This record gives sequence, C-alpha cells and structure tokens, in this order.
Amino acid sequence: MIPKEVIEEIRYRCDIEDVIGTYVSLKRAGSNRHGLCPFHSEKSPSFTVFPATKSFYCFGCGAGGDVITFVQKIENLDYVGAVESLATRAGIAIPNNDTLGGTPTVSRKRIYEMNLEAAKFFRSALFDPVLGAEGMKYLVENRRLSGATIKRFGLGFAPNDFGMLTMHLKKCGFSESELIAGFLSKKSQRGTLFDLFRNRIMFPVIDTSGNIVAFGGRVMDDSKPKYLNSSDTPGFKKSRVLFGLNYAKEHCAEELILCEGYMDTIAMHAAGFGNAVATLGTAITSDHARLIARYTKRVIINYDSDDAGQRAADKAMQLLDEVGVPVRVLKLEGAKDADEFIKKFGVDAFRNLLKGSSTAFDFKMDKILAKYNVATAEGKIRAAREVTTLIASTYSGVERELYLAAASERLGISAEGLANDVKRARAKQAREARQKESRELQLSARNFGDRVNPDAAKDPAAAAAEEVVLGLCLLYPEHRRLCAGGQVALNAEDFFTDFGRRVFSAMMKAEKSENGFYFSALGEEFSPDEMGRLVRLQQDRQALQNNGKEVLIDAARALRDRRRAREAGAGGLEGALAARRAMMNKKNDETEKGRT
Ligand code: UTP
Ligand code: MN
Repeated sequence: MIPKEVIEEIRYRCDIEDVIGTYVSLKRAGSNRHGLCPFHSEKSPSFTVFPATKSFYCFGCGAGGDVITFVQKIENLDYVGAVESLATRAGIAIPNNDTLGGTPTVSRKRIYEMNLEAAKFFRSALFDPVLGAEGMKYLVENRRLSGATIKRFGLGFAPNDFGMLTMHLKKCGFSESELIAGFLSKKSQRGTLFDLFRNRIMFPVIDTSGNIVAFGGRVMDDSKPKYLNSSDTPGFKKSRVLFGLNYAKEHCAEELILCEGYMDTIAMHAAGFGNAVATLGTAITSDHARLIARYTKRVIINYDSDDAGQRAADKAMQLLDEVGVPVRVLKLEGAKDADEFIKKFGVDAFRNLLKGSSTAFDFKMDKILAKYNVATAEGKIRAAREVTTLIASTYSGVERELYLAAASERLGISAEGLANDVKRARAKQAREARQKESRELQLSARNFGDRVNPDAAKDPAAAAAEEVVLGLCLLYPEHRRLCAGGQVALNAEDFFTDFGRRVFSAMMKAEKSENGFYFSALGEEFSPDEMGRLVRLQQDRQALQNNGKEVLIDAARALRDRRRAREAGAGGLEGALAARRAMMNKKNDETEKGRT
C-alpha cells in the first residue's frame, strides 16, 4: 500500500490539466478543457478534463478517471506503476516499504534491481572463457553477431547448472519470494530453489525507462521450447512491452519497423536499422498499438513470411489502424524472416525491400488477387466484388480515387464500372453502420453489453437507483457520512449489481477507516474502465440541480424495495420454479440410472 499522504501529495502536485496536456492538446470549454481522445480515434473532441473534480472523461469511448488512471492508461502501467511514475515527475519519494500486487514482500523496484544483477551475472557467464564458451560460439559463429552488438543488447548466457544464479542472487540479498516472483527461480518438490533459465542465450528485455523487466532465453539447438520467457511478473506485462523499444525510441519518430523476434530486431539494429522492435512471443495487442502510436508516425510490418506471420500481420494492420497509425507491409521473399534475409542477401537488398514495402491496401489487394483466377470472367467478378468492398471501406475520397485506378489496372476492368460498384457498396456500408448504431443505442439504453456493469441489464430500475446513490456518495462527503453512519439505511447487500456492491463496500470501508475516503485510492482496487464509469456517475450527478439528501434517501429506499421484492420473489414464484426444476432433474437422473 502506498500511503495516503503520498497519493494526496501526487494529486496535489501533478495537476491533471498539466499532465494530460503533455499528451493531448487541450482547449478551454467553459470551466473544463476539451481535446481529441488519446484512447480512441475521433475527429471531433469528446475528451473532457474537469479541473474542479480533478478528473477526465471521454464521452465517446467512456474512458475516464483521475490523473493516476490517465497515466495508467496512456503509459500502459498498473496502478502502482502510475503512482511511481507521477511521483518521479513531481519529485516525491515513495517510502521504500511499498508492496505490490498481493505479494506482500515483493516490490517492483526490487525486481528491477534483481534483474539487473541477474543480467550482469548472465553477461559475465557469457564472457567467461569456460562457462560461456558454447554460448559465445553460437552467437558469433551461428548467428554472426559482433562483439559490439552482443554488448549493446546486453546478451548473456545462463550456465548449464541448476543453482548458480539462485545462489548468486541470494548472496546479493534477494529473498526466495523475490526470486520466485521475478521468474528467475522455481521451487522444486523437495522445497529447494533452482534456476529457471539453464543453458540458454539470455536476452534482457528493457523498458523505455531503462529497467530490465524480463528475460528471454534461447536454446542453442533444436530442443523445445526454443525460447523461454519470463511470465508476467510485478512490473512486467508482455502485452505492454516491445523488445528493442528502449533503443529504437531515439530512431523511430518517423518510422518504426515491427517484427516478430528477438533475433530479427537485433539483426536489424546491427545492420543499421535502429528503429526495429518486436513483440515478445505474443500477438500484438491494442496496448502495443497504443504504445507504438506514441513513439512513431508510421509502421512497417515485417513479420515472418509463413502463414502465421501473415495472419499476425493482418491483426497488426487492424490494431494500428484503430490508433490511427498508417502501415506498410514488407514482403520477404526467399527468406523466412528479416534476420535470415539480411544474412542471405545483404543490407542493401534489405534497404531496397523497405523502400518497396507495399501499402496496407496493396497488401490486401495482392491477397485477393492471389485467391482468384482473374483470367476467367468468374474469378474476375469475385475478385472485383472483394476489391470494391475493400475500397468502399476507405475513409478518404482521394485514397479511394487512387485505389480505384490501381484496381482497374490490375483487374482489367474500367474504373467507371468499379466506381459504380464502390458507390453502391458505400451506401450499403453506411446503411449497415446506421442500423448497427441504432441497435447499439437501443441495447445500451437497456444496459445490454455493458462490460463494466454487466448485471445492470437484468434490472435497469435497480441499476439506475444504484447509480444515483453511488454518484451522490462519490461527490458529496456528507452523503457518504449519512450512509456510513447509518442515518440512511443502506447495506452493500441492498445493491443489485456486483459492481455497485463492490463500489459501495469499498467506499464505506474507506469512509470508516482512519484515512477516510479519497477517490484515487479506488484505483488500486478498480480497473481503469471501472474508474471511468465512476467518473461518469459523478459527472451525471453534477449536471443535475437537485442532489440533496432527499434524493439519496429516495434512491436508497428504492434499492431496499427492489431487494425485498427480489427476495420475496425467490421465496415465491422463483423459489417454486427452482424447486420444481430440481425435482425434474432428480427424476431424470433416476430414469437414467434405471436404464443402465
Ligand atoms: P521464431 O520462431 O520466429 O524465432 O519466433 P526467431 O525470433 O526467428 O528466432 P531464431 O531466429 O530462430 O533464433 C519469433 C518470436 O516468438 C517468440 C520469441 O519472442 C521469438 O523471438 N517465441 C518463439 C517464444 O516466445 N517461444 C518460442 O518457443 C518460440
Ligand atoms: Mn529467426
């Protein structure tokens, strides 16, 4: 737990407008500030900062929270990480006894210190003429890496031994629980610790702040698994880190090369392409896409030439499109990946390949054309149908025009003919989008598909009353006191939705605690999406004139009434039905048994 004073100090010193202003260009709108939402792509601003309540909310995508939630989302950090980052920014020291993620003895800082120590150990092992002989031979001869590259990436070697690292780290003062939480050691059945990485080439994974957050370890032969990676540990989530970005961030402002592997990244840097990064053995996530969008203007996707790589490229295109980053796609021919290509054909060939990378449109077009035999009328018609759908979904008119010309040439169909079909396809897509929107609107009016509070749809009236209570209690200390003191009779059990129950309990617990309630503390227990909802509930209430005690009392009464009705229902009709169902099941069971 980070002490309340520290969090309050952070909230006081890190002005929400200043912090958000470094990521989003904000304009004054009355007492609030407006801007384009950094969490979804939009053309008119629905992202709002409320200096009065020190919170933000996007009316477009529902993202919201306080300054800590904002940093969590935009920097892809967890709650503690965001607090630490803001503390650094404001020059506030966090007392050292902080603990993380339910593991009471392990702090993120300690894990980073331990990883650094481990990386030094692996490096010494690699450069040791005896211990590291095989590893060094592999890197230099098989992978043809220079000493400079090996050093730059901090590569190392995990000796073929069950206890060397564990022993070393223990000697450095790291505890067993730290070793286990950091994914460097594991407990055997006999209860002793042993090294997890053995006889492997070690690749440290370094985040953009320079912390070693994880390791990947590669075997030197064909055994499996080829790579062993740290699991998610305190301070490390695979979906939020890109290998090589710590180096690439200085070289990728214009363009970034996204590839699949550790070795591809290293080979590219060694060949002079310092703007290459890789995901860590996982598919690209929307977190990755957001991270990428913060560092670069364009991406060249450089995935393996196999089917899996090409499918992954589709996914990457879609996610990067969602964050508004234009992509080009590299087509590797004659090699399975970039590392192999550069070795086989050289740096200049690779540079030419980069220059000739195709746009996402050409990439998709190639795929369509490869699917059909366009020498036949039938094939041509089918291909044209897919191409028109593809062009129709392009937002910019200029781009559509260009694509039409290209498609017309490649298919041998007149641009006018294609243009007519595109027009029809666009009308159809617009119609479908409108239908979808109105369907979603209807559903959301009934709370269907609400991911933050899925229970709300089952009893919209109860859910609405809950929102009133929560909004009021979040906004006004006097309302919280009335609930906590029992003047307004309300228990967590009176809440219908799980979300409502959790929020109310957390709020009451904090209110009755020594520190009292403060909004930021909820961020520790509730996800950024949930925090967003809580801000919306406050904003909804604040927009209304009448937020007095009577409103709270009425809503509380409604909640108690709904609960009573539910419970009576469970004893009455619901209860009778349940009993009947139980009886039927028993009968069925018996007939089943009778048969066998
Ligand atoms: P590849 O199998 O393409 O390996 O996996 P690579 O990077 O080309 O490695 P080399 O050239 O054979 O040494 C691509 C990435 O997928 C992850 C790793 O991050 C790897 O770099 N991966 C692969 C794993 O995490 N585990 C595995 O067992 C295999
Ligand atoms: Mn490879």
